[in-house]
Amino acid sequence: MNLKENIKLNRLPKHIAIIMDGNGRWAKQQGMMRAFGHENGTKSVRQTVEACAELGVENLTLYAFSTENWKRPKLEVQTLMKLLVSSLKKEISTLQDNNIKLSAIGNLKTLPNKVHNELQDVINKTKDNSRMTLTLALSYGSREELLNTVKEISIKVKNNIISPENIEESIINKHLYTQNLPDVDLLIRTSGEQRISNFLLWQIAYAELYFTKILWPDFTKQHLYEAIIEYQKRERRFGKTSEQLS
Ligand code: IPE
Ligand code: IPE
Ligand code: MG
Repeated sequence: MNLKENIKLNRLPKHIAIIMDGNGRWAKQQGMMRAFGHENGTKSVRQTVEACAELGVENLTLYAFSTENWKRPKLEVQTLMKLLVSSLKKEISTLQDNNIKLSAIGNLKTLPNKVHNELQDVINKTKDNSRMTLTLALSYGSREELLNTVKEISIKVKNNIISPENIEESIINKHLYTQNLPDVDLLIRTSGEQRISNFLLWQIAYAELYFTKILWPDFTKQHLYEAIIEYQKRERRFGKTSEQLS
């Protein structure tokens, strides 16, 4: 059965976010080093990006490196950073061919120069692409993002640019790294872990959560289709009653 045909194209999530987890365990299962899992994870990234673009999903956000991931062994962090640079170099043509715009969220200035420069280069080159926005969360932590937001708004209050009684949700939205993105509709986490790990806490307030035991390097287009089909079966009530929706 071709799962893709069961997806209702008029009811696609506008924003899918994925916690790509399980690379290390995948490698360990094959008696390999963790780095092998990260390398193979890039294939799943390509599959997912392609599948989303082909379907017409407008926004895909991938959690690639968290603020907490800096605490991993130095060698693993280095491997991940090297992999980022090589993937960016390799994938730029795919992004251009498919009219995909690359974006990044997180504390990007903490990334090594090489990563930062390569990232900026791909972001600049793809800035006019319009089919889909692919956002990489790099050195991203939701609490840090919210802290920055509070600081920026406080400064504006202090300088009389904003008055406290006018602080609304939309003002907070405008100060987040995700200011140009809609709220997340579907959040997927692979590897069987059922936690959020400091990802998009504000933005997932009403997202549908989907957890799968598949380890990230095994994740294919078919798994993404399964997640979207499951999403389309859910009734999103946003606090209302079922009767109010129909
Ligand atoms: C996800 O896989 C990749 C990153 C967090 C960078 P992990 O490296 O967390 O793999 P597990 O969870 O140890 O299996
Ligand atoms: C979350 O995965 C971060 C990314 C996928 C980049 P982790 O593997 O770091 O999460 P925890 O620490 O197990 O919650
Ligand atoms: Mg993990």
